[in-house]
Amino acid sequence: MVTQTRSLLMSSRLVKIFLVVSLVAMTRSVAADDSIDAFLEEVKELVSRETEFTSETDAKEWLARTNVALAEQNNKAATASFNYATNITNENRQKQVAAALAMNRWSNAHVIQAKKYLSNSNNFAPGSDVIRQLKIFVQGEPFVSKDAALSRKLEETSSKLQVVYTDAHLTKNGKTYYIEPELTEIMSTSRDYDELLWAWLGWRDAIGPRAKPLFTEVVTMLNLVSRQNGFSDAGEAWRVSNYEFDNIESTTHDLYEEVRPLYEQLHAYVRRKLIQKYPGRGIDPSGGIPAHLLGNMWGQQWDSIMDVVTPYPLVAADNVTGPLQSYTAKRMFKMAEDFFKSIGLDPMTSTFWNKSMIEKPRDRHVDCHGSATDFFKEGDYRIKMCSVRTGESLNTIHHEMGHIQYFMQYHRQPSIYRTGANAAFHEAVGDTITLSVKTPGHLRAMGLLKTEKPKGDSGSENDEYKKDINFLMKIALEKIAFLPFGYMIDRWRWEVFRGQVTPENYNRRWWELRRLYQGLIPPARRTQNDFDPAAKFHVSYFIPYIRYFFSFIGQFQFHEALCKAAGHTGPLQKCDIYRSKKAGDLLKSLLSLGGSKPWPESMEVITGQRKFKTDAILEYFKPLHDWLKRANAQEHVGWKNHH
Ligand SMILES: *[C@@H]1O[C@H](CO)[C@@H](O)[C@H](O)[C@H]1NC(C)=O
Ligand SMILES: *[C@@H]1O[C@H](CO)[C@@H](O)[C@H](O)[C@H]1NC(C)=O
Ligand SMILES: *[C@@H]1O[C@H](CO)[C@@H](O)[C@H](O)[C@H]1NC(C)=O
Ligand SMILES: *[C@@H]1O[C@H](CO)[C@@H](O)[C@H](O)[C@H]1NC(C)=O
Ligand SMILES: [Zn+2]
Repeated sequence: MVTQTRSLLMSSRLVKIFLVVSLVAMTRSVAADDSIDAFLEEVKELVSRETEFTSETDAKEWLARTNVALAEQNNKAATASFNYATNITNENRQKQVAAALAMNRWSNAHVIQAKKYLSNSNNFAPGSDVIRQLKIFVQGEPFVSKDAALSRKLEETSSKLQVVYTDAHLTKNGKTYYIEPELTEIMSTSRDYDELLWAWLGWRDAIGPRAKPLFTEVVTMLNLVSRQNGFSDAGEAWRVSNYEFDNIESTTHDLYEEVRPLYEQLHAYVRRKLIQKYPGRGIDPSGGIPAHLLGNMWGQQWDSIMDVVTPYPLVAADNVTGPLQSYTAKRMFKMAEDFFKSIGLDPMTSTFWNKSMIEKPRDRHVDCHGSATDFFKEGDYRIKMCSVRTGESLNTIHHEMGHIQYFMQYHRQPSIYRTGANAAFHEAVGDTITLSVKTPGHLRAMGLLKTEKPKGDSGSENDEYKKDINFLMKIALEKIAFLPFGYMIDRWRWEVFRGQVTPENYNRRWWELRRLYQGLIPPARRTQNDFDPAAKFHVSYFIPYIRYFFSFIGQFQFHEALCKAAGHTGPLQKCDIYRSKKAGDLLKSLLSLGGSKPWPESMEVITGQRKFKTDAILEYFKPLHDWLKRANAQEHVGWKNHH
């Protein structure tokens, strides 16, 4: 992500076609082909032979076979998805949809069998791993359906919606602007209020109205299949299939409330700086911030406007953009690989280097959204992204490579367990590493920051403090600014799936939540004909999002634990675990478990705690929080929640 949360990657529980995704990945269900009928007959017959599905020994054998077949199925689906995403043609899209439907067919048949075993599992050994595998397999398939026509419709509609997103672009003066890299670049580097507004509005107008009917249809269909499978709605199906959590909604809310005071301070400070930067634009000093001024198309991470908000501009802020200009994409990837290797993790495979797409190709249309994919075949792991020479891109590379490391560490697990402890863990690995990579000490060692001048006079200690505050501000713009966004996306979708928000009110409610949690307001009038949520990749692709919220909390817990293992003393924000085999071993002990244990156990392995907690993130930012409170002493902290 995204760290660049843009490149957030999706992890469907079993298909593991990260990001690539296709709804399919989440909706495996029966296809409409005739061939399926014969296949289902076969399954029915198997199911009717009760005895075949009652013994633990049978179940074990069945799982052994199914794990092998699952790897093959995942490989086929991943291949078709990757080919499509890295070479967008109608032909490749059709192949991708076909592969997804074949996968659905296979999954549906096997889920029926797994459920049969589960319903007879009372006499299995208590706590048997067989039961866990069966459960994880079934839970990972909340959208299988017996209704073949419905499944096909769902697949096709979601595919059309994705096309609306990937095809969307603006033109001005004969030039074409896609989201990556052109619009993203404008949002992060332009400081022209009207140009930003043009990009912000144009992107939403290009997608919203076309996406809304498709989105609405997909919601209805996902709810239907979810109810067939015993869930109250698709939001519940998502929550159950991605997390072993009892009360994820209240947990999310409580964690958010713990970081809210820090977020409000950050918000008030940034708002004041933006009022100075854009005078006469009517930004209300006690209201919400216009959403197009934050350096990012969705206002989700604000580090791109560091130049506008640097606390101490006279003390050099760390800025790797200049030095990176002489780098190639390959060299940036090698730098990330080097970090993982230095703590004892594995190098990228030769297939990785041969088959990944690390830059935007010039000869074809591609989906640039960063992703990492496990192909479930010896040594076949790939990243697709359109890297550019910026610090953000470097973050994304580490983020995606964190996924690849997870894939490699758990590849000996049965296919069903080749997944993160939960979806948030998968997102957190690369980001955790990035917390070390970004320390000024590390960047200097890598030659990405100029070597410090020897400290001379009495001012230097004060300069050290100012540098620390500059550094923490940059990280806060990325991590703290993200939290309310990471929360509100799924908060909105949970309400949508539950039917609490109806299509006439989709956009109104979206902005209510944007204002309530992020303190952002639209920079122009929005009506019920607009549909701004679809302008976000994960909404148009129906990829769950709350994983990123948990990842952003959890990565600080992981960072703290790895730093402790590395023998780090002193402030957490200065820790760099580079070359610590001890930290690497601890990380491996977590990664190699894959999904074989409930996530609280995996969490305990690394942190000694069984919960997501905000202590580490709050400790990390404590010096900045104190600084902000002083800097905002005259400020209205918070924002009015209505006009
Ligand atoms: C892209 O896909 C098309 C099929 O639609 C194929 O003919 C073409 O060779 C592919 N291009 C690349 C670079 O793989
Ligand atoms: C359009 O392009 C021309 C020539 O490239 C340039 O002179 C002009 O300023 C551009 N207009 C706008 C609105 O960007
Ligand atoms: C970082 O450097 C780039 C180019 O070297 C510059 O455009 C950008 O404004 C700098 N960022 C900050 C925060 O100074
Ligand atoms: C990757 O490419 C290199 C050079 O083209 C080749 O020697 C090697 O066999 C390839 N490896 C794989 C796994 O395809
Ligand atoms: Zn990711």
